[in-house]
Amino acid sequence: MLPTQSGGPGAFDQFDLNRVPTPCYVVDVEKIRSNLEVLRAIADRSGANLLLALKAFSMWSLSELIEEYLDGCCASGLWEARLAREKGLAEKSKSKILSTYSPAYRSTEINEICSLSDHLIFNHPGSFGVKQASEAGVSVGLRINPEISLGHDPKYDPSAENSRLGYPISHLSEEQISGFDGLHFHNLCEQNFSPLDKTWRKVEKDLGNRLNQFDWVNMGGGHHCTREDYDRDGLINLLVEVSKKYNVQTYLEPGEAVALDAGILVGEVLDTMNADKDHALLDVSATCHAPDVIEAPYRPALMGDLDKGEYRYLLGGSSCLTADCFGEYGFDKKLKRGDRVAFLDQAHYTMVKTNTFNGVPLPSIALWNSKTDELSIIKKFGYEEFENRLS
Ligand SMILES: Cc1ncc(COP(=O)(O)O)c(C=O)c1O
Repeated sequence: MLPTQSGGPGAFDQFDLNRVPTPCYVVDVEKIRSNLEVLRAIADRSGANLLLALKAFSMWSLSELIEEYLDGCCASGLWEARLAREKGLAEKSKSKILSTYSPAYRSTEINEICSLSDHLIFNHPGSFGVKQASEAGVSVGLRINPEISLGHDPKYDPSAENSRLGYPISHLSEEQISGFDGLHFHNLCEQNFSPLDKTWRKVEKDLGNRLNQFDWVNMGGGHHCTREDYDRDGLINLLVEVSKKYNVQTYLEPGEAVALDAGILVGEVLDTMNADKDHALLDVSATCHAPDVIEAPYRPALMGDLDKGEYRYLLGGSSCLTADCFGEYGFDKKLKRGDRVAFLDQAHYTMVKTNTFNGVPLPSIALWNSKTDELSIIKKFGYEEFENRLS
């Protein structure tokens, strides 16, 4: 079980959960802005370019805000690349950078991906598409596997045994490097600075002077750099050191750090029952609306959870999956039908991963401004979303 990374409810403890329909993701624009301010300061002080990892958070209704602070986006393939360009998350006309990496590319998509991307990153030196990208004038990068395992869990560790993510650094020859403009590694997940430092020292030890051949070095994501206790000075010093020593432009691809603690998932208690333990049956679902709860797994923080609460409930989701349970939580009174609950830190890796398993409705999406208290429901989903994905 991974630890929850939520730093608490923040301004959401002032938010009346009855103001939104359920299920609903509520995103606080001001918290996104304050995360972006931290990230901009890192970029300004280090000279690095910071790209939003769309796989974590693709909220294009906030594109103006995101473009105000970040240097562009990183995409995982054609659709995210299109979204970045078409929805103003990384506009070409504003010289925003779009970097695309996928473990492999389709021949039917490579030309369009090349036309959208500034950087195209490949998983190994012989990957399909390197030639097309070079001919199209795209800056080509190679993702390496730095072969230094620093993750909490092999599932989220690109250096884990038998990883398919990136070319093993120990296999890399001088000749293989020569065809690439940039180097990419992504080796972390929700981590502080020290594992990045260790990863870089390993890369530097293995590649030595060969690092001089690159125009850019992209250190991927997984940096929890908007968390209170993150060593931001350490990160900035490293980025400055790398760019000066090897004369490269550095890049980071934060995803989670952009939206950390910026959203909640609000649900309603539909029923309660006792089956050895007390259960509250909700209209939100871990497997449909917060799948990392089961995949990671982890127990999300709950607004108002009382460690020593007299009334303890297993908060269960609305699908048929036995494991569709958020966890056990404490309350100071009995739960009843109609009560609202809110899981914290639910803006990243949630909206981008939802599904309608069991015909469970998708959560609405609301934007809230914790400074002005302005609230708008920006998206509602209906039965058609479910029907349209089936045939
Ligand atoms: C290549 C790459 N870049 C960036 C990210 C974003 O990571 P995070 O959201 O943890 O910052 C990921 C996440 O898996 C990734 O695989």
